[in-house]
Amino acid sequence: MSLLFKNPVNHVYPVTIGLSCQKTKTEFLSKKSITFRVQHKPQTVNHKITNHPSSNPKGVVMKILVILGHPKPGSFNHVLAETAVQTLQELGHDILFHDLYGERFDPVLPVDEEKLDESELPEFLRQYLDELRASQGLIFIHPNWWGSPPAILRGWIDRVFRQNSVYNFTPNGPISYIGDKIVQIFSTSNTPRDIEVNVYGDPVENFWKVIVFGLLGSQSFERRNFESIILSTPEERSLWLDEVKTTIRRRFIFS
Ligand SMILES: Cc1cc2nc3c(=O)[nH]c(=O)nc-3n(C[C@H](O)[C@H](O)[C@H](O)COP(=O)(O)O)c2cc1C
Repeated sequence: MSLLFKNPVNHVYPVTIGLSCQKTKTEFLSKKSITFRVQHKPQTVNHKITNHPSSNPKGVVMKILVILGHPKPGSFNHVLAETAVQTLQELGHDILFHDLYGERFDPVLPVDEEKLDESELPEFLRQYLDELRASQGLIFIHPNWWGSPPAILRGWIDRVFRQNSVYNFTPNGPISYIGDKIVQIFSTSNTPRDIEVNVYGDPVENFWKVIVFGLLGSQSFERRNFESIILSTPEERSLWLDEVKTTIRRRFIFS
């Protein structure tokens, strides 16, 4: 399938995705080095895809924003992202895909950016806000780094989830301006689950579910953490990718 990858300075380049993704997954599972073809170019995937009524019986197209925060092409996180995007394609959805490292997203909140009116923001931030508002679904894919999403993704939240644009505080508590969305987090880590939960208090779950989407009052939040990546076998990773597909097929169809 041919897609248009458009970057913020309007370079548009066609990229073939589909067969290359299959190959990538196969290669990943057999632990050979692989290349995700769309790396290290500023990019926004924004394309219409023909609906496939057989895989999306309701035939309702959703706009889904997919954010990947992992630096390494060929990593399991990148394969998770490819699998998610492919599954959304099969459902016929509109996909807005951002590889934050590939785009060289700057996570550092500039002094005084908070004070700017939205119309004064750099164009790429306004684009993110437009896409966030327009999306019915959000998918974040990232590793656990020191009990947190990588700094690049934390910084994306800092700069995009702005007060007055995305949320605000009222005497009756925080309110969201972006409406309820289907939120899915796919994260990865190495720490055994019982230690992550009982010793560390599951900080990644707390960050997304309580701090970010709890504040926004999201009703439709799910997170799946895959662990332990370092000890996993190709068979386990293959099953995890199947789980990503079934999770997306279950969650990203209007009922
Ligand atoms: C800077 C850094 C910090 C990390 N911190 C943690 C951590 O706090 N808990 C954990 O379970 N794994 C931690 N890890 C391991 C990563 O979560 C793990 O390598 C990743 O999930 C594997 O996915 P990948 O193959 O897609 O990179 C860390 C890795 C790095 C590079």
